Amino acid sequence: MKRVVIFASGSGSNAENLIKFFHNSDNVSVIQVLTNNPHAKVLDRCKNLKVSALSFNRFAFSKSKDVLNVLKASEPDLIVLAGFLWKFPEFILKEFEGKVINIHPALLPKYGGKGMYGKFVHEAVVANKETETGITIHYVNENYDEGAIIFQTKCSVLASDTAEDVAHKIHLLEMEHFPKIVKRLLE
Ligand code: GRF
Repeated sequence: MKRVVIFASGSGSNAENLIKFFHNSDNVSVIQVLTNNPHAKVLDRCKNLKVSALSFNRFAFSKSKDVLNVLKASEPDLIVLAGFLWKFPEFILKEFEGKVINIHPALLPKYGGKGMYGKFVHEAVVANKETETGITIHYVNENYDEGAIIFQTKCSVLASDTAEDVAHKIHLLEMEHFPKIVKRLLE
């Protein structure tokens, strides 16, 4: 059984989608969700889905080895960042080289980097009158949104689309493709 650990900071709709997708799988299991936000909705989702979840603070994550030790004990085959907002420490990446991926709600390298998350991405896409946007699934390295790209797919942006409209289109793409890419990476 391949083991997946998810990091999420907020709502966790992608985390829930991944958990449900692999719920009856014989090959892949989401064993744990970790969050930096003790109030994140993802914790409620995990409770309902009966998936183990832990929250941690900045010291545990990037100053001490506490989160690293939790991860080592969990022996993940893949660490999936799904709406996780903190920069991943290099010393953790080093231990799990090639095993940490992220989903970004735009076509990287466009609309990436610090501060480019959630609605800020979609607002920028609309403000710049882009005619298309999409999602990027990529490996995580020491710089925000700069690791090797694994998968991208596009959707159109209409002149009449608001940032909320774009967010909805992106959400649909994420729901459809993210679990399939995770599955493919673990095969
Ligand atoms: C998603 O759009 C994801 O691409 C981005 O953050 C959002 C997280 O949404 N990195 P959710 O918490 O999974 O609902």
